[in-house]
Amino acid sequence: MSTILEIKDLHKSFSDNPDGTEVLSSLDLEVEKNEFLCILGHSGCGKTTLLRCIAGFESFTGQVILNGSAVTSPSPDRIMVFQTFEQLFPWKTVFGNVDFPLKQTGHKDKAERKRVVEDALKKVRLSEYAHYYPHQLSGGMKQRVAIARALALKPKLILMDEPFAALDAMTRRELQNELLLLSQTEDCTILFVTHNIQEAIILGTRNIVLHKGGKIVYDKRNDMEKPISPSSEGFGRIWQEMRDAIYME
Ligand SMILES: Nc1ncnc2c1ncn2[C@@H]1O[C@H](COP(=O)(O)OP(=O)(O)OP(=O)(O)O)[C@@H](O)[C@H]1O
Ligand SMILES: [Mg+2]
Repeated sequence: MSTILEIKDLHKSFSDNPDGTEVLSSLDLEVEKNEFLCILGHSGCGKTTLLRCIAGFESFTGQVILNGSAVTSPSPDRIMVFQTFEQLFPWKTVFGNVDFPLKQTGHKDKAERKRVVEDALKKVRLSEYAHYYPHQLSGGMKQRVAIARALALKPKLILMDEPFAALDAMTRRELQNELLLLSQTEDCTILFVTHNIQEAIILGTRNIVLHKGGKIVYDKRNDMEKPISPSSEGFGRIWQEMRDAIYME
């Protein structure tokens, strides 16, 4: 295992914050290649801000180092997947939505792009919907397109901010299963924010809990054999540990 992401002494505050307190205050974190890191914590503790700093969308002090290079701006090697269903271009088809960022990032060969897009859509089981527009898709299908778009770019990191939070329970479970399989077969490292402890245990190879200020109060590998379900041995203990960590003062 090798370290892909190093965060050292990360500080982040917003200038329009009236009390001037830091959202992230001296956060240190190392992430291994191919890790599936789930990040939990109360609303407002800085989870989205952390992902946005890693994505290069925010200015900060301290260091975010990806594969040895300092993050200073956004790049296709770090792709974010959001909670909202409205993260696709409404005027582009499913194919077009996955193709566009590839084109924008210098993939000039159209035939090669077609192959990559088709391959990504196949992975999320949307091959038959390539010509559909976003308004013709369900929420779950839209999130699959967003995942396909990320996979097609072959990023070093996929940053997922509560991607399944707006889905109904059944679709959420389906997408969890699909993402779990993808994470085991694709060469990718995933940072996944969720409020759902069960989701974190099922998906994560490591789970962390943040408190206010981005303070890491829980950080454990999850070595339970996958697939994991609430009836798996050890599930209840980890669930309780994480719940205690979230609610501890
Ligand atoms: N652009 C911004 N300008 C000013 N303050 C911000 C901005 N973005 C976030 N904040 C503040 O930073 C803190 C952390 O926000 P963040 O969105 O990272 O929380 P979160 O952990 O993702 O919460 P949630 O679980 O509700 O999504 C909050 O107090 C929020 O008000
Ligand atoms: Mg958030």
